[in-house]
Amino acid sequence: MFVVVGVTGGIAAYKAVSLVRLLVKDGHDVHVVPTDDALRFVGTPTWEAISRNPVTTSVHDDVAQVRHVALGQRADLVVVAPATANTMAKMAAGLADDLLGTTFLATRAPVLIAPAMHTEMWAHPATQANVDVLTSRGVRMIGPVSGALTGGDEGQGRMAEPERIHEVVDRELRHGSGEAAGQAWFVSAGGTHEPLDPVRFLGNRSSGRQGVEVALAAARCGAEVVLAAGHVAHGVLDAAERDPRIRIVRVSTADDLERVAGEHAPSADVVVMAAAVADYRAAEVSDAKITKDGADAPLRLELAQTPDILAGLAARRQPGQLVVGFAAETPGPGETLVERAIAKRRRKGADLLAANEVGWDRGFEGGENHLVVVDARDRVVEEAEGAKRETAEALVRRILAVRAAR
Ligand SMILES: Cc1cc2nc3c(=O)[nH]c(=O)nc-3n(C[C@H](O)[C@H](O)[C@H](O)COP(=O)(O)O)c2cc1C
Repeated sequence: MFVVVGVTGGIAAYKAVSLVRLLVKDGHDVHVVPTDDALRFVGTPTWEAISRNPVTTSVHDDVAQVRHVALGQRADLVVVAPATANTMAKMAAGLADDLLGTTFLATRAPVLIAPAMHTEMWAHPATQANVDVLTSRGVRMIGPVSGALTGGDEGQGRMAEPERIHEVVDRELRHGSGEAAGQAWFVSAGGTHEPLDPVRFLGNRSSGRQGVEVALAAARCGAEVVLAAGHVAHGVLDAAERDPRIRIVRVSTADDLERVAGEHAPSADVVVMAAAVADYRAAEVSDAKITKDGADAPLRLELAQTPDILAGLAARRQPGQLVVGFAAETPGPGETLVERAIAKRRRKGADLLAANEVGWDRGFEGGENHLVVVDARDRVVEEAEGAKRETAEALVRRILAVRAAR
């Protein structure tokens, strides 16, 4: 998962090195955002080497990447350790004069902070008021604990140990407190390949991006997700592989997907079939490579229909289970995407159907999409346009709302 570790200017900054190491060891994509003062305690080379990602404090570095908002938007979790009195005051006031400040304001991910300071600074009404403001806005405190402080003093204000912070972060990343916590989801993504002979197949242009984003969005809401991933574009599964709430099962053909869905869908609360499943496969797969040696006639392939997996899952729907289909459509003249979506939902018997228009230059490989979602009463209940992460989030929110309204 994408974890931002904010580090501020206290002696305990050196302990944050252990926290970053533990998170990297867990397989997370860790981005350290130190304040300028933090770098007086532990320098950039240490953070970059430990996190394996570039480190900057300023909003003016790497401007083309819009880092000042991108980190916050991409984060699955932000943890600030240690958090100085100064940074907590800035967070409470909403100041954004450095990368940590802008990241905090830009994120909608859970924020955990591990304060560290002398007892007097912690107990001061100004600091306590800032704690109240931050906690009232959903920021969660880890510690501080009592113990030895810098300069030989003792008392409350010591940063919680890195192992303890790691434990809290890990629990949050695994279980979350989102709306889908405790739910099991089965999501399929990517295209299928139907073999013709040992070297060739019938496939499609699906990148898998939209389905994988649905799995990630559900996991961010706390769901435990089984993701049946067909053939996907390079790198599309990276974030899902790092997500402890997602279990990936690779599939290749429509038959594979039917088998894996048969294993995992019955125990799911929500089933989202976003994979681009072939409608046809070779009636007979040749054991030998098909060649044109000596033949000058066209090759005729006989194709047989593949199983209708979505219709099968909808027909065998478990009590309380929600079955959601996807349709990539190329509406003909005089037809609308919504009409096609309504007709397809009825044919499949799904609870919801998300349709997007595809064509030579839209829908598949790009990072953007336009989805319309219809329900069992033929109503358009959602329309979302934008990055596939955003359209996935809109769909997941809609699914959760439909479940909650039942
Ligand atoms: C040796 C040393 C240790 C410090 N330790 C802390 C600390 O544990 N907590 C704290 O709130 N401030 C501490 N400070 C003061 C902060 O570094 C100072 O308030 C700074 O402006 C914080 O900047 P930042 O919040 O942007 O990182 C310490 C300063 C020094 C010189």
